[in-house]
Amino acid sequence: MNQAWWQDAVIYQCYIRSFKDGNGDGIGDFRGLIDKIDHFVDLGVDAVWVSPHYKSPMDDNGYDVSDYYQVSEDYGTLDDVREFIDTAHGHGIKVIFDLILNHTSDEHPWFQAAKDPTHPDHAKYHDYYIWQPPKYDAEGNRMKPTRWLSWFGGGVWDYNEPTDEYYLHIFSKKMPDLNWRNENMKTDLKAITKWLIDLGVDGFRIDASNHLEKNWDFPDDYPGYHHFSSLPKHHEYLEEWGRELFQPNGVMAMGEAGGASKEEAEKYVGYDHNEFDMLIHFGHCWQDCDWDNQITTGKWAKGRLNVKAVKESFFHFDKMLRGIGQNLIYWHNHDQPRILSHYGNDTEYRVKSAKMLLYTLYFMPGTAIVYQGEEIGMTNVDYQRLDDFRDVEVFTEYENFMSRGATHDMAMQALRDRARDNARSPFQWNDGPQAGFTTATPWMNVVGNYRTINLAAQQDDPDSIYRHYKRVFQLRKQWQVAGGTLAFIDLADDDSYMYTNDTAQGTILVVANFRNKAIDVRLALDLDGFEMVLSNCGDKLAPTLTLAPYDAMVYVKTKEQDA
Ligand code: NOJ
Repeated sequence: MNQAWWQDAVIYQCYIRSFKDGNGDGIGDFRGLIDKIDHFVDLGVDAVWVSPHYKSPMDDNGYDVSDYYQVSEDYGTLDDVREFIDTAHGHGIKVIFDLILNHTSDEHPWFQAAKDPTHPDHAKYHDYYIWQPPKYDAEGNRMKPTRWLSWFGGGVWDYNEPTDEYYLHIFSKKMPDLNWRNENMKTDLKAITKWLIDLGVDGFRIDASNHLEKNWDFPDDYPGYHHFSSLPKHHEYLEEWGRELFQPNGVMAMGEAGGASKEEAEKYVGYDHNEFDMLIHFGHCWQDCDWDNQITTGKWAKGRLNVKAVKESFFHFDKMLRGIGQNLIYWHNHDQPRILSHYGNDTEYRVKSAKMLLYTLYFMPGTAIVYQGEEIGMTNVDYQRLDDFRDVEVFTEYENFMSRGATHDMAMQALRDRARDNARSPFQWNDGPQAGFTTATPWMNVVGNYRTINLAAQQDDPDSIYRHYKRVFQLRKQWQVAGGTLAFIDLADDDSYMYTNDTAQGTILVVANFRNKAIDVRLALDLDGFEMVLSNCGDKLAPTLTLAPYDAMVYVKTKEQDA
């Protein structure tokens, strides 16, 4: 079987708003991407996934689309988009767009017509969205149809007076959910998808893809997430997109689905199925929550990192998809904190733990995604004021924390630790004003550590985080890492992160300490013939060894040495 381009790819997730401002308005844009194309080439990535670029009121940084056929003025023009695609292709780099099918902005013309009975197109567009009549309590007070909770905190229903109905939004109230049971709506969305394909993109990341179907009985329930997540019918919709749009046009599709079973995963990404090519799973992402915290609840409460669970999640998906479909590996995206601050150590062991995170992730099999800024070890934000933050989610949650008895300082710390904005601050190009991101005031503050943590400072230093990322990405190709077979060593251990990956070129051995303390490990395998290729702590391979905090080493035994 011929290998598709994405099967051994490294995909760079580019958060366009914060990548590079090319026109001096403080916001990243396509001109910035074009100007910095050399960064992708130099780092050695195969594809760039651009976060949503469509016309949008930016309630959720572009995931709220008001016109799919236009580019946000913040990001440039359609000609800029075409120029970026051509430039990337000219450098052998594929382009992936974010495809938002679950909802639109409330400012999209469809919703404008849907909510207004006097609008000439109301009859056509009303059912493009999901409406329910109000309920009333014994006193006659109007109530929401259900108590379902939205992903951004707060209910999923908002009242629309002109129709005397509630509309459903599982994200912000400015992002009404589309009705996938409406055939006309799907026809219009298909035309949009085809139009984007014709622009020349090579793939899509499909947003919120397991939420397309809802429980249309609308049972009252709390929090009710399962009434709009991973319902069987969403596979039918995705299959339709795959069969009619992705497959015949040769575009790669990757979609989100958290706890997919083996059967489900096969539907999504099975080699003989049509839905996606790759699955984005999240099992490893929030393995450090304090679930008992009653004030900053859920993901917002930082607890002890469960290293074992991180390993188990990667292993689970690797095993489940082996021989069935392609796996994806990544540390985090724009919805989680920076991995270095989250699972590593961004103070005393900044460089060392960044390399540990690099080695432990990227020698595992599967297609890899690297998130903008990870390659230079960017950290969480250092913001001191609530209005330094930008994310719509932050403000609802801040109020929630305060209402549950948090102090302002406690709430601010939770935001600095866990908010999505941590991953969204401007890329740190150099130690000049605004880290070289913009000549204007940036839309979001640059993190204060840019004078030490920036790309320019790392490019010529062979020991830097950046240079190690480059080297690892070269090695992934050379050793055919993506297609290998993963086996953890001491999977049950909650401190170490050790595995072998058997590839067509030989065996890769990764030995690492995930903790900020010394640990003892045992390597119950034949160590003969392994040569060190990367290390953040020297060469210390032995059957039993003591690893200092964040020690990490990569060894390889090539096939010739095996013979
Ligand atoms: C998932 C995206 O990753 C997130 O950033 C966004 O807020 C929601 N989908 C809604 O589109």
